[in-house]
Amino acid sequence: MRMNQLAKIAAAALLTFGVTSAMAVITGSKHDLSATGGGTIKANAGQNNDEICVYCHTPHASNTDFTGAPLWNKATPSGTFTMYGATSAGVAGTTIAGTATDTAPSAPSLACLSCHDGVSAINSIVNAPGSGGYVAGGQNVAFGSTAAGTAFTMPAGVTQIGTDLTNDHPVSITYVEGAASLKPTTTAVTGWSGASTIADLLRNGKVECASCHDPHLGESDTFLRRNAATVGEASNKGSAVCLTCHDK
Ligand code: HEC
Ligand code: HEC
Ligand code: HEC
Ligand code: HEC
Repeated sequence: MRMNQLAKIAAAALLTFGVTSAMAVITGSKHDLSATGGGTIKANAGQNNDEICVYCHTPHASNTDFTGAPLWNKATPSGTFTMYGATSAGVAGTTIAGTATDTAPSAPSLACLSCHDGVSAINSIVNAPGSGGYVAGGQNVAFGSTAAGTAFTMPAGVTQIGTDLTNDHPVSITYVEGAASLKPTTTAVTGWSGASTIADLLRNGKVECASCHDPHLGESDTFLRRNAATVGEASNKGSAVCLTCHDK
């Protein structure tokens, strides 16, 4: 094969894999909680703790009471949340436009809060890595200096969203076109992972954490779903994330 043919094939491959199909790179990100993960919060070495997906998903014996995320490997958070615009925990809140939130985060957001609420144990999983690791209701695997059997919760700081959601962008809220200058759900979006219109960003017609974030998208800033690698700029440059839905 001639060299320029090879070069063309290489260029085509780059186009295919580098541009059109942006790959989510969870490996080495802060959501890689294996012993060799990218953050400071992660499992101890040993105990088959080189697995990545296991801290969120399991191929068998998943928590089916919890439909927030597929094949979920964590127990359902038991805490009560104070919703955006709500006056107390466990009741619906309202926005300026008068749209009500649910009385509690719906399952897709609860999936994230099962680590980010600062109460639920990050290291609690139903099926521990390796064979025979199943414990109904979950078990705490060893994390950093935290021994097996002891809960490790999200430390204070920006990543601890907490159970008070009044100071966070509303979640578990129905997307009402026109409210808060929201664009029609048929509006095309570009550069977002797994979405071609605003409708694809919604879960059961609602805005949830996964509307703006993709927990697997390690190459994007703060796991934002507007993929930095695809668009070739910071995910929220010029507030592109916000302007995707809001016509401001
Ligand atoms: C930090 C938690 C977390 C880790 C680790 C994680 N996931 Fe996920 N995953 C989620 C959440 C949350 C959802 C649901 C997201 C949504 O609602 O869009 C999900 C959804 C999925 C889906 C279905 C949605 C889709 O993309 O089609 C697949 C498949 C998946 N994950 C595969 C994996 C694999 C494979 C790994 C390991 C390499 C992994 N995940 C690691 C949290 C995680
Ligand atoms: C299994 C536990 C777990 C789940 C489930 C989980 N996260 Fe995380 N997440 C973490 C940990 C641990 C960190 C690192 C926190 C730190 O170092 O302060 C993190 C960090 C983040 C960060 C900050 C990234 C950065 O670069 O600073 C974002 C954003 C985030 N998570 C969003 C989400 C969203 C959205 C979901 C649900 C779709 C989710 N997470 C589900 C454990 C989890
Ligand atoms: C409307 C879009 C949107 C929704 C919904 C949303 N986020 Fe975010 N989130 C963002 C943006 C944008 C950032 C980056 C902020 C920055 O870099 O200043 C962010 C940052 C974060 C961070 C990192 C904090 C930091 O400043 O480094 C965490 C953790 C996080 N989000 C978790 C969540 C969780 C959990 C949910 C659901 C309860 C959620 N987010 C819902 C847009 C959103
Ligand atoms: C996936 C679509 C979507 C994205 C992206 C999005 N929002 Fe929103 N936003 C909503 C929805 C839905 C509401 C609730 C509107 C209502 O009142 O019915 C809302 C409400 C708001 C409100 C009004 C809250 C109130 O009390 O009335 C503000 C302010 C806001 N968003 C700012 C932002 C900012 C800043 C960003 C970027 C970080 C952002 N939004 C990204 C969908 C989105």
